[in-house]
Amino acid sequence: MVTPLVAGNWKMHTTLAEAVALARAIRRALARVQGVEVVLCPPFVSLAAVARAVRGSALRVGAQNMHHQEKGAFTGEISPTMLSGLCQYVILGHSERRRHFGETDDLVNRKVLKAVEHGLRPILCVGESLEERQQGRAEGVVSQSLLACLKGIGAPGGLAIAYEPVWAIGTGVPATGEQAQLMAALVRRVLADRYGREAAQIPVLYGGSVTPTNTQEFVVQPDIDGALVGGASLDAESFAQIVRLTAQVRSRAGEG
Ligand code: PGA
Repeated sequence: MVTPLVAGNWKMHTTLAEAVALARAIRRALARVQGVEVVLCPPFVSLAAVARAVRGSALRVGAQNMHHQEKGAFTGEISPTMLSGLCQYVILGHSERRRHFGETDDLVNRKVLKAVEHGLRPILCVGESLEERQQGRAEGVVSQSLLACLKGIGAPGGLAIAYEPVWAIGTGVPATGEQAQLMAALVRRVLADRYGREAAQIPVLYGGSVTPTNTQEFVVQPDIDGALVGGASLDAESFAQIVRLTAQVRSRAGEG
């Protein structure tokens, strides 16, 4: 069984001091929790400090975005060479990047390729809008987007996929466990078609208004291996609780 993964996407929140304090509080809260890969994704400016704050623990660090070239005249951008060595993961294709910064599947694909080339583990986000869901196009949109973002990725080692319905992100209206499971199963089928047995090693996460109250509903699903958490990851106790619940559900599943 793939190791479950819970990632906290802090988005454009936390000053440097707040980020360090949050990372330390999460580290304390999770000191005895095992069996879940936990990734903290602070803003770029806090990556190095958060990496220091979690050093020596099982916590991992990720960036929220990345440019697709190593270097050059791209004012304000952060490259894969700057991130490798600093963090282990990078969130790519988040719907906020797509919506506010015009990122397309093609651009996300270039980023995924570069991340992998530099030994960074992409947490690739895909998801449909409310309109697409209402039109009955959710499955087609998600599978097409996934395949487009993975073009040229021959081996899926290190990859994680987050199914994040756009309508559930930051809205307080999560998908139901059943909706999330159906889409996670679809993601898994697409991955299995593409990568065969190796696909089983890819964690498939659900993201969109995950809180301690609804975590179980998602992580009990057979095709969901964890969560990408936004708002609730800014509170150390809420985030730690999401991780604990994931660990509990998974260890029960492992015994059963
Ligand atoms: P949310 O964000 O948990 O605040 O809905 C999830 C995400 O953007 O990954």
